[in-house]
Amino acid sequence: MGLSQTDSPILNNRWSDEVNGMENGGKVQAAETILSMENITKIYSNGFIANKNVNFELRRGEIHALAGENGAGKSTLMKVLFGEEQCEEGRILYKGKEVKIDSPLSAIKMGIGMVHQHFMLVPSMTVAENMVLGLEPEKAGFLDKEEAKKRTREVSEKYGLEIDPDARIRDLSVGLKQRVEILKALLRGADILILDEPTAVLTPQETVEIFQELKRLKELGHTVVFISHKLGEIKEICDRITIMRDGRTIDVRMVDEVSEQEISRLMIGRDVLLKTDKTEAKPGSAFLSVKNLNYTDAAGQKILNEINMTVRKGEILGVAGIEGNGQNELSELVTGMKKNRSGQILIDGEDISRKSVREIRELGVSHISQDRMTYGVVADAGVADNIMADRYYRKEFKKGVLLNRKKICKETDQLILEYGVKCDDREQPVRMLSGGNMQKVVVAREFSSDPKLVIANQPTRGIDVGAAEFVHKKLLELRDKGAAILLISADLTEIINLSDSIVVLHDGAVAAYFEDAKTIDPVELGEYMLGIKKMSREQIGGAVHEQ
Ligand SMILES: Nc1ncnc2c1ncn2[C@@H]1O[C@H](COP(=O)(O)OP(=O)(O)OP(=O)(O)O)[C@@H](O)[C@H]1O
Ligand SMILES: [Mg+2]
Repeated sequence: MGLSQTDSPILNNRWSDEVNGMENGGKVQAAETILSMENITKIYSNGFIANKNVNFELRRGEIHALAGENGAGKSTLMKVLFGEEQCEEGRILYKGKEVKIDSPLSAIKMGIGMVHQHFMLVPSMTVAENMVLGLEPEKAGFLDKEEAKKRTREVSEKYGLEIDPDARIRDLSVGLKQRVEILKALLRGADILILDEPTAVLTPQETVEIFQELKRLKELGHTVVFISHKLGEIKEICDRITIMRDGRTIDVRMVDEVSEQEISRLMIGRDVLLKTDKTEAKPGSAFLSVKNLNYTDAAGQKILNEINMTVRKGEILGVAGIEGNGQNELSELVTGMKKNRSGQILIDGEDISRKSVREIRELGVSHISQDRMTYGVVADAGVADNIMADRYYRKEFKKGVLLNRKKICKETDQLILEYGVKCDDREQPVRMLSGGNMQKVVVAREFSSDPKLVIANQPTRGIDVGAAEFVHKKLLELRDKGAAILLISADLTEIINLSDSIVVLHDGAVAAYFEDAKTIDPVELGEYMLGIKKMSREQIGGAVHEQ
């Protein structure tokens, strides 16, 4: 059922009230409690208690961080608030009155909007069509495209968030898709906007932009819930923080009065090393060699241009760059997921041009893809099947022609324990896990296959600080065992902390090479990433080592 026109907040003029509020009072004071969730207990159908007596309170006009380790219950609590999940106990007070939020539609009617951890747009449709989905302004039974476009333009102008109403969702960058999600919620009159890990998928530039957008929303009197594992971002943009652990609220603080170290201690229950200690690398011969690699996509756009680089055994080569400069294509070409390129890719001296993804894996290559939902996991399959997907056919897991279930189970359970995957048991479908725990399933599989080459594309995306510390330690362990590691990350701190050498990709070409990552000045690195500076061919040539 769609919203009828009279229900539409736009036509009800809710916005003009806000604007008047601005004129009268200037900046809205962040004092009045707009919403409180009291003693919320949420039990999933399998009996799992994801929220236990949680209290959560929002003040009008604040940006409120919700933090906690993977599986702490953050998304669940927000789904309860958005009416997507029903709680077993507790109550919600909105503007002083107890309310029942039994569906997203009733949340939207009240002025609560949510942008999910995994987006929910229809890729084949245009921005305007997605914007009005569910509240379609119909003309004689047909979707009125002009009206949809008009409304999209109105809301985009009002909030200063530029978007092309005619663009197809599938052609938009992640940052723009997210902007559509935010506009969609605003079009429906969201006073309270819940953003579930909005920056996990953004480039640093897009993050700067969304922060400006959030500040503007705050000025207009909107209240924002901001879920993130990036403590620096929380410090930068949020006013208060609620910290959850194991389904409970641990603490609520003013962000100014709590350090990053303290936040992570409250989240994890122990001290976390926010910076990884590492020993000097002892690089051996080249294991992955990329020679004059060119790649043009299906639309005829040149994505990679004459890439030359090597990753040696026992080193971590970091690829720094703003997302969308060819990093994903590079990792997909090396792992055989993309073909049709010119140039050469050698793994352990073997040309991989005619090899399948599986044959390449069998050379000892493991791959953490940046898009875990599409390439990393089979959401409906269980944790065990996902972890063992790459090896169940091996001899060691067979008993004659049959699978050796017992051995498979034992190995899976051990990996679940070692990687701290929070799940009921090994058979639980992966779609029931929290976002960060899905990522841990991928990491557990890819790191435990005794790899000789690891292509780690955004390995810590969406995982909490404690788990990120663990992944970093594991990467270094693999390096010290002699694996060659190609680390791609949008997180500059991660790249600088972990890499032994660094290449910078800009516009599909190598813009710089630093043999010794320790000597790098982050500002200079940024200049190469943005294309302000480029090294000479000779300097870049250093990125190529002998086999
Ligand atoms: N549909 C479901 N059925 C059963 N259990 C679920 C379901 N959805 C989530 N859970 C469990 O509830 C717990 C909390 O999950 P939730 O998604 O709220 O965590 P989160 O704090 O958002 O974590 P992350 O930081 O990884 O996104 C997890 O252990 C998860 O496995
Ligand atoms: Mg979550």
